[in-house]
Amino acid sequence: MERTLTPINHPLTGTLEVPGDKSISHRAVILGSLSRGTTVVENFLDGEDCLSTVNAFKCMGVNIRREGTTLSIEGRGLDGLKEPPAPLNLGNSGTTSRLLLGVLAGQPFHACLTGDESLSRRPMDRVADPLREMGAAIDGREKGKYFPISIRGTNLNPITYTLPVHSAQVKSAILLAGLFAEGRTTVIEPVPTRDHTERILPAFGGEIKRNGQYISIEGGQELKGTRFTVPGDLSSAAFFITASALVQGSDLTIKHVGLNPTRTGIIDLLKQMGAPVETKVTEKIGEEPVGDIRIQGSPLKGMKIEGEVIPRVIDEIPLIALAATQANGVTEIRDAKELRYKETDRIQAVVDVLTKIGADIQELKDGMVINGPVTLKGGTVSSYHDHRIGMMAAIASFISEGPVTIEHPSCINISYPQFFHHLNQLKQE
Ligand code: S3P
Repeated sequence: MERTLTPINHPLTGTLEVPGDKSISHRAVILGSLSRGTTVVENFLDGEDCLSTVNAFKCMGVNIRREGTTLSIEGRGLDGLKEPPAPLNLGNSGTTSRLLLGVLAGQPFHACLTGDESLSRRPMDRVADPLREMGAAIDGREKGKYFPISIRGTNLNPITYTLPVHSAQVKSAILLAGLFAEGRTTVIEPVPTRDHTERILPAFGGEIKRNGQYISIEGGQELKGTRFTVPGDLSSAAFFITASALVQGSDLTIKHVGLNPTRTGIIDLLKQMGAPVETKVTEKIGEEPVGDIRIQGSPLKGMKIEGEVIPRVIDEIPLIALAATQANGVTEIRDAKELRYKETDRIQAVVDVLTKIGADIQELKDGMVINGPVTLKGGTVSSYHDHRIGMMAAIASFISEGPVTIEHPSCINISYPQFFHHLNQLKQE
């Protein structure tokens, strides 16, 4: 299957609401399942990744009903999960895999995890190592580095663990395992990563302590069901934020979107590149700030991007690279080697896709260098079966001279099933 997108000949205007946040949707299902009583999640992201999390907990005996984007979860408490009778197929979802391993480490049973080809190439030793230190027995391909993985949980020992990779998934896996350990588990995070686990836990009556780089959780806390509305996903909004920044004369507002500062790197960078972006926090959902983003089209300038901002923009770097093709001067992205371990090697994929449609871009070991501005001609590119690469290529069609054809576009359903609908809406307005 492929999809051909024609260029746009007018600015983007109006307002848009994007679907619920992927990271928060996963965490709401996990904590709802581990709580006592009912949890109702509104604006749940009905993308394939989050449905993998729902399915995994259903297979462990949790009663979860979904009507559209509303979930109702009958939580079973910390000790209520059941041994899954068959391997859990987690599809394409790295977040489900890492966070679930944290939960399974503390269960008195065995589970086997499988996934698609992409997930089977992604490193799991980053969570298997600390979880083994806590006492879990984990095995799999290459000694448990890759799926399929089997895990036998146990009574866990608490640990103090310094994150060797800047990964919210690893941090969250250890904190979730910490719920099942006897005593205090501490994660030391040298560079801040997204902190949704820390922010959502209090909504379920849980306690977590943050002190600079130290994040601590006590084991054995009783969690209580709650009602929670998931904010719009800034990573999904980022596609149309970038489109609006790139099409001169645009003036687009995205409403009810999560503005958690550990996620707003894309806004900071586009501003530094010269785009007028305004954000306004209008409410707080639990501890998550939520609000509106207004973005106008503007000439951009290239810049060097490295260091602490990288984890705050990790999923949006493909879009920054696209924006850089239109920016005046050189944009150099460094310290982003983690991109090589995403759904596909996103450094290689971004360089390949943007080169094919006419960009001047070179691959670096830990990033890329882009020279701009250039006219993107358009052409045929692969999504690499990676939702964010497919959507980045689709956004390129807003500024390309000729059409952009995307091969294997269905992967976009992983995180943004309404993407093409929203794209067509904005192109037609
Ligand atoms: C996520 C964390 C990030 C991000 C992923 C979702 C999360 O991964 O890329 O899309 O929900 O914790 P890492 O923590 O591995 O960088």
